[in-house]
Amino acid sequence: MGALPEIQLHLRPGIIELGWGHLDRDWLPVDIVAAAAEQALRDHGAEALAYGAEQGPGRLITQLQARLERLEGVAPPADQVMITGGVSQALALLCTLLSRPGDVVLVEAPTYHLALRIFHDHGLRLVAVPGDARGIHVETAGALVQMLRAHNERVAFLYLVPNFSNPTGGTLAPERRQALAAMAAREGLTVIEDDAYGELWHETPPPPSLYRLAHGGPIIRLGTFSKLLAPGLRLGWMLAAPDLVRRCCGSGMLDSGGGVNHFTATIVATLLEQGRLEPHVARLREGLRARRDALLAALALHLPTGCTWNPVLGGYFVWVRLPPGLDTLAMLPLAETAGVAYVPGRRFFADSGGQNYLRLAFSLLAPAELEEGARRLGAVVRRALKGVV
Ligand SMILES: Cc1ncc(COP(=O)(O)O)c(C=O)c1O
Repeated sequence: MGALPEIQLHLRPGIIELGWGHLDRDWLPVDIVAAAAEQALRDHGAEALAYGAEQGPGRLITQLQARLERLEGVAPPADQVMITGGVSQALALLCTLLSRPGDVVLVEAPTYHLALRIFHDHGLRLVAVPGDARGIHVETAGALVQMLRAHNERVAFLYLVPNFSNPTGGTLAPERRQALAAMAAREGLTVIEDDAYGELWHETPPPPSLYRLAHGGPIIRLGTFSKLLAPGLRLGWMLAAPDLVRRCCGSGMLDSGGGVNHFTATIVATLLEQGRLEPHVARLREGLRARRDALLAALALHLPTGCTWNPVLGGYFVWVRLPPGLDTLAMLPLAETAGVAYVPGRRFFADSGGQNYLRLAFSLLAPAELEEGARRLGAVVRRALKGVV
């Protein structure tokens, strides 16, 4: 039997993996985390190792408030902030507290495919809201909520990724944010805003968050250190109305175990106090921008006419549309044989759609590999167009 794996990423020899939305290992900030861990243990040793406060360590909440004020001009009040184990843990907790099996969750089409897995784990039914390059159609979402409720369906919440989304890279337009915040308040619809990528803009920051526009409406904003620092930290934050923060803190899991991931939260609080996050994020942004440019240039060179992709203004991904009739799921084995992998578009849809789309990540590999991956992909698409698949 081979050794058990240490990490989730599984690279296959000979295959250029454009599917994994993970950060390049060379960009994981081992040194600054090590320095912060050493300092945190020296300064807060026993407290770092105790059960943590349910809401998260006060030092980290204070740092997050100050950071949001610096970046966005408004600090959320402390009773609206809670430390989480990343977006995934927060979503699972919110599903536990806010939904019952059989409830409906409204999602974008396409959306972050692994959030769909979490919703499935909780027995939730997914209903896709149509959208376009400017984000979801808010009026349609409102009409769907009314129609579902008229049929005695419970709509637990609407989930969306408004900034540099996974998989499309798209960003919800400012006027749709206003409209969605107003609709959520009018309908009493909880909206979960997954802001995993908002800080990883390549050109300019995204418009104000739904949470900020909601003025106390039922919006929940989730952030994560996975994309900014390192996913192995399993650390993020939630902004929500004080009564929901209290409910989360009073949940059985937190009552029993204390704050989620307290030791890491203590280390990251120290890292923020040391001022080590901002220079790191600035470097990361620059690196991502360069890799985006390399991949987009290579796609323009190697993909045949009829292939298109969305503008990429932030985040990790390029969403590529192949000519109609091609099926990226059926084409994947051919691509892997040719030494390149991607995520087929269908995985990002709650029901149907995405057959001729695929997602490429530029966060993991160096420019030369991105270029070679695009070249191999171009050859595969040409073969597929000739009817090989
Ligand atoms: C949109 C989106 N949300 C959440 C996550 C996972 O976040 P976390 O590591 O904080 O659980 C990802 C990771 O790919 C993502 O793309």
